[in-house]
Amino acid sequence: MSALDKFIEGLPKVELHLHIEGSLEPELMFSLAQRNKIKLPFKSVEEVRKAYDFGNLQDFLDIYYQGMGVLQVEQDFYDLTWAYLEKCAAQNVMHVEIFFDPQGHTARGIKFGTVINGITRALDDGKKKLGISSHLIMCFLRHLSEADAFQTLEQALPYKNKIIGVGLDSSEKGHPPSKFKNVFAKARAEGLMTVAHAGEEGPPEYVWEALDLLKVNRLDHGNRSLEDPRLIARLVKEGMALTVCPLSNLKLCVVKDLRNHPLKKMLELGLKATVNSDDPAYFGGYMNDNFKAVAKAVGLEKSHLLTLARNSINASFLNDTEKKALLQKVDAYART
Ligand code: ADE
Ligand code: ZN
Repeated sequence: MSALDKFIEGLPKVELHLHIEGSLEPELMFSLAQRNKIKLPFKSVEEVRKAYDFGNLQDFLDIYYQGMGVLQVEQDFYDLTWAYLEKCAAQNVMHVEIFFDPQGHTARGIKFGTVINGITRALDDGKKKLGISSHLIMCFLRHLSEADAFQTLEQALPYKNKIIGVGLDSSEKGHPPSKFKNVFAKARAEGLMTVAHAGEEGPPEYVWEALDLLKVNRLDHGNRSLEDPRLIARLVKEGMALTVCPLSNLKLCVVKDLRNHPLKKMLELGLKATVNSDDPAYFGGYMNDNFKAVAKAVGLEKSHLLTLARNSINASFLNDTEKKALLQKVDAYART
């Protein structure tokens, strides 16, 4: 292993862009399908992995929504979340802010409470047994209507103490942030933080809308912001964090080759970029895999990696005391 890979493994990390349903490994998919007596359209784990060959975001989403069909009862959501937290523990990920897609489940007749109780029970155990802190972000599916998002927010309000914020994901093109302006305003009025996927496949205008209309606290992906110098200046001036997902960008053809990935350029421009895994079971790797692959491809040095780790802590929804404790861990690691 290279010295830099070793440095990455030991680096204290924070993950800010992770869809819990995207951490469903094919092995767990098969065992849950068996447990719940669901027939999968695949014969083996190998066949599932072979199907993970995507030309764009929609190709992936079609398989992602199909895959989450094996999640039926609270224990399934617990097992899914616990498996992810074990990966985090093995990769020195100290804090996570994870997305879930309730509409992907309630549309199949699963109760909102079943989903959130399973996930949060595992997150509580993650804190107790693994020392990993967490926040939960509820995403609205942007290919559905704003009325549907409003209904989902209503269902979530009795569980508001378990949710730190709301996000926006799914098919970006043709579903601009402006479509969700009112439901985001309601979420903010309820005291929730806001984030949104923007500029993954969609144009820079969608990033402007996420900032101006949804008033996001953090931007998910944001790659295409680089096409607009005025937007770059705005993001730098506001210290807006971008949750960048290198292996996702490669697998979904947002970049053709990881050597062309804009992460290093983002850092050089003064953007608060962070590294994340998005849907690790589908895109070929968790946090360390993302860091290692992009560091090698674009030539990151230790100083870049420390900046990325600190950016994630500063961009998290932790309080100042919690941030300070994690920043001290990174500082101590930097001195080793
Ligand atoms: N849902 C899960 N992963 C996603 C991504 N990368 N972009 C948009 N929606 C998603
Ligand atoms: Zn995502």
